[in-house]
This record gives sequence, C-alpha cells and structure tokens, in this order.
Amino acid sequence: MSTLKGRDFLALADFTGAEIELLVDTGLLLKKQLKEGTPHDHLKGKSLAMIFEKSSTRTRMAFEVGMYQLGGQALFLSSRDLQIGRGESIADTARVMSRYVDGILIRTYKQSDVVDLAAYADVPVINGLTDWSHPTQVIADFMTIKEHKGQLEGLKIAYVGDGNNMLHSLYIGGAQVGMSVAAACPIGYEPDASVVKAAQAAGQETITLTTDPHEAVQDADIIYTDTWASMGQESEKAERQKIFKDYQVNAALMAKARPGAIFMHCLPAYRGLEVTEDVLEGPSSVVFDEAENRLHAHKAIMASIIN
Ligand code: CP
Ligand code: NVA
Repeated sequence: MSTLKGRDFLALADFTGAEIELLVDTGLLLKKQLKEGTPHDHLKGKSLAMIFEKSSTRTRMAFEVGMYQLGGQALFLSSRDLQIGRGESIADTARVMSRYVDGILIRTYKQSDVVDLAAYADVPVINGLTDWSHPTQVIADFMTIKEHKGQLEGLKIAYVGDGNNMLHSLYIGGAQVGMSVAAACPIGYEPDASVVKAAQAAGQETITLTTDPHEAVQDADIIYTDTWASMGQESEKAERQKIFKDYQVNAALMAKARPGAIFMHCLPAYRGLEVTEDVLEGPSSVVFDEAENRLHAHKAIMASIIN
C-alpha cells in the first residue's frame, strides 16, 4: 500500500493501470478481512473531512463507515453549513482543514475546485464526484468486475446513455487497466472529446463512441448505464427522457451482449428510464454488489493514500 502514500485521488488519469489494480486488489483484501473479522485498523486515530456540495447516499456512507472500520473518524460537512457556503475561499478552507485532519474528501460541481483544494491542502484530497468525473466509483466497479469475471484486462465494457462524469471515469479507468470501452450516447450528449482521445491514447484495447446502443453492446462482457439527468440537471429531466428513450438498457439490449454479460449501474437508478425493472432486478444485475464494494474500495483508497 505504501507506494501511494500522500497522493491525491483526483482523477484516474493520475494513476497507472498497475496502481488502479493495486487499489482494486487492496479493496478485495480489505473486504475479505472484514468478512473474516481480521482487524485492519490502518488509520487508527486519523480523521477525514468530507465536504458535500451535492447529495449522496453511497459515497458518504462508504467513506464514513469505512473510516470508522479503519480505526479513524470522518466528519460530514455539508457546504450548506460550512463557511464555504458563505463565500470562504477553497484555498483558505484547504489550509485550515489541513491543520485538523489527515485527508479531505470533496463532492462538488467543478473539477477545478477539487484541483484547487488539493493544491492548497497539505493532506491527500479525494474527488468524491464532480460534474466531470467520478473516479472512486470506478475502483468499486472494477472490484465488482474482478469478482464476477475474474479479471479486468481484455474485457469489454459497453456504456449506454449520457456522456457524463461516470462515462469519463470509465473511459480513462478502463483504458488504463487494458479493457475495451464502447459507449453509445445521443448526439449532443457525448462525453468530452478530449476524454475519448485521452482514453484512446492510454489504452491498448479499442475505445469507441457511437450513437447506436446495439453496436456498442456487441460482444460486451459488461453493460453499464447511469441516470439520464445527473445532479444539477434536474430542470432538463423531461426533455432528456425524450432524447434518451432509445438508450434504455432492457432485456433486448442485454441479449445482444456476450452470453453471461453482467449489468452495472452506479446508482441511484431510475427504473423504467435508463434501465428496466427486469434487468435491474434480474440475474445479470450486480448493482448491489457494486454498491457494497464502494465501502471496501473507499477503505482501500483511504488506507493507501492517507499517511
Ligand atoms: N453512486 C454514487 O456515487 O452514489 P451516491 O450519489 O449515493 O453517493
Ligand atoms: N451521473 C450521476 C452519478 C451519481 C452517482 C450524477 O452526477 O448525478
């Protein structure tokens, strides 16, 4: 674990494929240790500040419970209550928090705010989701894929839906660990072109983008989707439901993937929109393993980077 000590966890592009796999394997080990009852209080006496400018169920719980299980404590700090909400700068907040805690998690809108926080903080900063990326989710996703498929390298993941933060992190993370990533997004809702390019440059396998979900899921080992309207896009919900209606993951689309393909979703899921009830609750779905693995994956991130 020691090779990552002191590093920030802001984007998967900052980590090699081997480092991403190390985090995944550390998560699998910590999961085993928790189930066996083996003590793993690697962060005894340590504290994590958690700044949330957006809602969360899984991320908040995984980091809070995870820190407790590692022997430390986490502080949930809503931006509604922090002085940040009244205009205190990110730079000042970072420097003050660094005097109290051993790590800072932030969920916010702008990726640049996370980067600024890390620039001014003396302790590791973790990106708990921005409009641009969701890297902690991908460590849990890869743990889940490894559990169900035995490996990451050489597998194909097909993402269907909005070209959002989730897809950005899957593209980069997938490319780094040697997966093939195919996405299908409607025109006007594609991922940022620079991310597709970066993934293509980083990856050994095929990294593609199409508008056709049926094309993307061909030979896929994993089908992944996410909400059509992310946090902050609530006013576009109705319009997006019309635009995305052909991008639903349903039984017919699952049937086009490789036999034994699994279905994944970062959650929260909106049944009847991006995924049908039968797929979400069906035998191919691993979404609750995936949600559980947030706990173990985030313990791995904290135990690896916090000094
Ligand atoms: N998947 C995910 O990040 O969930 P929360 O928004 O509940 O944290
Ligand atoms: N794309 C979603 C992910 C939620 C975990 C959002 O940003 O709201």
